[in-house]
Amino acid sequence: MTHGDTLVAQGLVKSYGGVRALDGAGIRLRGGEVHALVGENGAGKSTLVRILAGALAPDEGAVRLAKDTRIATVSQELSLFPDLTVRENLFPHRPPLRLGLLDRGAMDRAARPVLEELGLDVDLGTELGELPLADQQLTEIARALLRRPRLLILDEPTSALPAAAVERLERVLRTLTGRGIAVLYVTHFLEEVMRTAQRVTVLRDGRVASAGVRRTEVTVPELVTAMLGGRPEQSARRTRTVADVPPPVVLSGVNVPGRLTDVTFTVRAGEVVGVAGLQGAGHLDALEVVCGRAEVSAGRVDVGGRGQPHSLRAAVRAGVAFVPSDRKRYGLMVDRTVWENTTAVSWLALGRGGFMPSRSELVRRTANLTERLRLRGGPYDMVARLSGGNQQKVVFAKWLATEPKIVVLDDPTRGVDVGVRAEMHRIVGELATSGAAVLLASTDLAELTEVCDRVLVFVRGRVVGEVHGARLTEHALAVAMQQGATPSI
Ligand SMILES: Nc1ncnc2c1ncn2[C@@H]1O[C@H](COP(=O)(O)OP(=O)(O)OP(=O)(O)O)[C@@H](O)[C@H]1O
Ligand SMILES: [Mg+2]
Repeated sequence: MTHGDTLVAQGLVKSYGGVRALDGAGIRLRGGEVHALVGENGAGKSTLVRILAGALAPDEGAVRLAKDTRIATVSQELSLFPDLTVRENLFPHRPPLRLGLLDRGAMDRAARPVLEELGLDVDLGTELGELPLADQQLTEIARALLRRPRLLILDEPTSALPAAAVERLERVLRTLTGRGIAVLYVTHFLEEVMRTAQRVTVLRDGRVASAGVRRTEVTVPELVTAMLGGRPEQSARRTRTVADVPPPVVLSGVNVPGRLTDVTFTVRAGEVVGVAGLQGAGHLDALEVVCGRAEVSAGRVDVGGRGQPHSLRAAVRAGVAFVPSDRKRYGLMVDRTVWENTTAVSWLALGRGGFMPSRSELVRRTANLTERLRLRGGPYDMVARLSGGNQQKVVFAKWLATEPKIVVLDDPTRGVDVGVRAEMHRIVGELATSGAAVLLASTDLAELTEVCDRVLVFVRGRVVGEVHGARLTEHALAVAMQQGATPSI
């Protein structure tokens, strides 16, 4: 360690079972600097943060700190208590005492200036859970600042914050670094990096792809290249025939307060359209509108020729199949058989016109589907006994059984292995070929480029562009998602 270093970490290795989250990573943090840490989902950023903060022991490697360095961390997941007051959340460990009792006056005198600096105007006696998410996140940041750290670590602190709050936070960070404090700032918003940080470290697959480069010596496209690495680019060059029928999905000038502004797009029968954006960009809200899970305040929505669906049930009746990423919460009844799961929603959808088929007919249909999906298991197997990838296939089967006209997928291959991923992609392609309109969101940019005919890019609640054909590459998408990006609207 040299003079001015607040923390130096080297050769950090950390594995979770078979997964190498960190593979020889390190970082050097100096007082008076904001140091940004960027990288794709799963690159190892939070693991590194937890090790630096002393919350996790590395398998190998060392972290050295300057003398008397107090570290405060704002972690990616909120770690506050929703049923305690803001005041109680701000002083969780060492509240000021007077005559052995909690000294509210002292707490409030300490907290006020910090809250004011962050622009958080709340009554300290309010229960935290009653505040909007952005204010809860600011409370968490205020709590970290109240510890008067020499090193402040922020792991994606701005994902829930509106633009004005992000600006205030950036001002606060400048004040802190002016006092010689070191800040480590994890974010996916590269524009924020360019505004706020003096240095940037890029993690890729648990290794440092770019170490502490000065902000002035790097550009956003260069950072994206470092994040993605030299993966061979594969662009979609397929030609699907689009059916000559009215588009099953039409959004025109759609507004959802605080989430979408003037969003217009169509998805035609026979094409796969992707939506992409950073967290809070609005792309997932567009899926919610199609699935009847968000109310629009202006504009026109037509799903399956039945206008705007006002519930998921109505969307299903209009021909929508919704495959969520969180299959445990939304997708499956694990203590039932495959055939019971695959028919769980089809009765609702097939109620579009016609009779509920008999049980033997339902089992027969399930057998067809499981064969088509190459599921390892038959109609009578219990879902709980299938592997994760095969469970995800059951979620697919369940929706395919509804003979959907519109398929909406949110991160359908998260957590499945490469084999299942490839099969899912084949199935999505087949669905489109057989005339479905497919709308796909994914945190995996490679998935979007491999599967979609075109991808709509969202920034701050608006569609800012469309990428298609030979231009549809991970790099182009990642750069487009960063255009003038600040979180939320
Ligand atoms: N507690 C855990 N158990 C098992 N695997 C884990 C655990 N924590 C992280 N991992 C794995 O380690 C890798 C790195 O995860 P980490 O959370 O550090 O990534 P990240 O860069 O913070 O990603 P994100 O941008 O999504 O927050 C991932 O493959 C993740 O699945
Ligand atoms: Mg993380």
